[in-house]
Amino acid sequence: MFSDFYPHLVQGLAVAAALWFLPASCCHGADEPLFPNADFESGSLEGWTLTGDAFQFQPTKGDNPQVRGRESSAHEGEHWVGGFEKHTNSEGQPGGAFTDDAVGELISPEFTIRKPYLNFLIGGGNHPGQTGVKLQCDAQELDLATGGDSETMSPSSHDVSKLLGKKARLVVYDNVRGGWGHVNVDSFRASDKPLPGSMGEFALVPGIPASPGDDRRYDQPLRPQFHFTAGKNWLNDPNGMVFDGEKYHLFFQHNPLAPVWGNMTWGHATSPDMVHWTQHDHALLPYRVDRQAGTIFSGTAVVDHNNSLGVQQGEQKTLCAFFTFAVRPKFYQAMAYSTDDGATWKYWNEGRPVVPNQGFDDGERDPKVFWHEPSGRWVMVLWVKQNPGKVRFFTSKNLADWEHASDFDRDWAFECMDLAFLPVDGDKNNMKAVIYDASFDYEVGTFDGREFHSESGPHRAGGGNFYAAQSFNDMPDDRVVQIGWMRGGPNSAEKYGLPFNQQMSFPYELSLRRIGGDLKLFAQPIAEISSLVDDALVMQDVTIRDGENLLASQEPFDLVDAEIEFAPGTAERLSFQLSGASLEYDASTHRLLQQGVDEQGNAVEVVVFDDLKPRDGRVKLRFLIDRLTVESFAFDGERFFAAYYSPRSGDRSPVIRAEGGDVNVRKLEIRRLHSAWVDQ
Ligand code: FRU
Repeated sequence: MFSDFYPHLVQGLAVAAALWFLPASCCHGADEPLFPNADFESGSLEGWTLTGDAFQFQPTKGDNPQVRGRESSAHEGEHWVGGFEKHTNSEGQPGGAFTDDAVGELISPEFTIRKPYLNFLIGGGNHPGQTGVKLQCDAQELDLATGGDSETMSPSSHDVSKLLGKKARLVVYDNVRGGWGHVNVDSFRASDKPLPGSMGEFALVPGIPASPGDDRRYDQPLRPQFHFTAGKNWLNDPNGMVFDGEKYHLFFQHNPLAPVWGNMTWGHATSPDMVHWTQHDHALLPYRVDRQAGTIFSGTAVVDHNNSLGVQQGEQKTLCAFFTFAVRPKFYQAMAYSTDDGATWKYWNEGRPVVPNQGFDDGERDPKVFWHEPSGRWVMVLWVKQNPGKVRFFTSKNLADWEHASDFDRDWAFECMDLAFLPVDGDKNNMKAVIYDASFDYEVGTFDGREFHSESGPHRAGGGNFYAAQSFNDMPDDRVVQIGWMRGGPNSAEKYGLPFNQQMSFPYELSLRRIGGDLKLFAQPIAEISSLVDDALVMQDVTIRDGENLLASQEPFDLVDAEIEFAPGTAERLSFQLSGASLEYDASTHRLLQQGVDEQGNAVEVVVFDDLKPRDGRVKLRFLIDRLTVESFAFDGERFFAAYYSPRSGDRSPVIRAEGGDVNVRKLEIRRLHSAWVDQ
């Protein structure tokens, strides 16, 4: 299962579902409870018969899963049956959880079928025939529905017109122990009509707000100040990165409800310079269609310059977002478009597949779409299988119909594939294609519009907490700039009481250089960082004597972009304490080490670079230090690494100290930066 590999996916496959309920008043006469306490609003199981122990703590009350940081239950009224919940009028706590290991049944009183539709809400495990609701009538058992592996309940409607006048019972059953071994139900009603959203038409999942809230603040002492964070709650991969001619769009994997992974939605921010970001309403929200509810996983966005899709309104170019619809049982690729510059979005063909599941992996995902000028086609790069990895290329003329063009089979390939074009050593007559995945394994070669032809690699770039990077589409001046998710680090909501969790890397500009007869990717912070520079401490050709601190007379630094070129000479170590971060170059092992922090908040020693030997006697390093992270670059970005640190409290006096011998600093420049949130 794909989720075994990625812990953030394991936090819950939020395959959420939708509910649109008509107000009770509108339905008088047309819609009535199936039998007394069919909506559990008595707060008890009065009238129902219980077997086994799965339902012993029912009904639950309120949106108990959401209190735990999970997806909303989307229940009606106050009480409902939530098989995993343990919070009743007399038992448990708000948010309290029971177990998936209990089994049993909940049997309704006998009732007469008086209306043509039997409607209810259902959620919980997706185990057809093992968890769900069945109808017993006329000595027959009709299986009605199972859940969608989501706590969110969805509308479920059944045409029972052929059974009118007959006596029947409902059985809510849970025969599964373990993963998603529970069922949620609410509001069994008799009606003249099916519930909206129950017969397959498109509906957004309820309970997921489109607004990021207008009470966002960016001035908390430990909020990153020049790295993008969601105003509130969880963020992971960058999505849909595109320059629209005026500004940069950054969409991102987001849980609008909690600081943990779940309810995947595309958050949205824009920037004039990739440094100063403003967050907007969420762009793409979980939905249901064809009786299946799912969430919005990663993907890309393009500006439809030639109106290929044919939906353009006036002069405003259409933005098209390609994403993975994470739905059970098989993910597929879908598209949404915006004709108003990203303010509102429509789901193409109601969010149905533009590229159906290819049949290799239920979790295929993360379409990268771009315009390929030489072939005059749109291209999609899609990861479709792991171990061994398979990536599939598709082409399209109109962005809606996609043809399979070729396969790229590589052991290394896994999720969040990207393809970008770069000149070799700046020579625009020698362009190469670079294909890479979430871990930044990459190959360099050429792309003919249908197929990738490899010339170099695989190599690996980046390291540490840098993951799932993507490059901007439609960059001016053919620049290739990417942003990655800084995956991991402690949950900053839990550990530091911040309203968000996780951050993006700073944007890096990529270049391709020939070194040692091979083609390698280099990454450097984008030049636009200069807009944040207040002033700089500059030193040249100074010798730090053994035991001496070069910065002894300096005030503490806060946000910095620091570059140093030094000759380690006879020294054993050169140690750095800048802002809250501590690093050390070990001249005997040629390693750069950092004091880092793991996901549990434990201090760990991180090897940033090994085999970092001086060249012509010198080592060249650059550090971007924000409130929670350090990004390190060696030899002009030939190597780079991103890592979290545990902010130091107490004495933050800066240190660059030589130990075991003297170090000659050829050049030091510590640029003090101000916050990128100043204008918020
Ligand atoms: C990478 C990833 C993607 C997926 C997304 C879900 O971090 O696993 O493959 O689309 O996260 O949030």
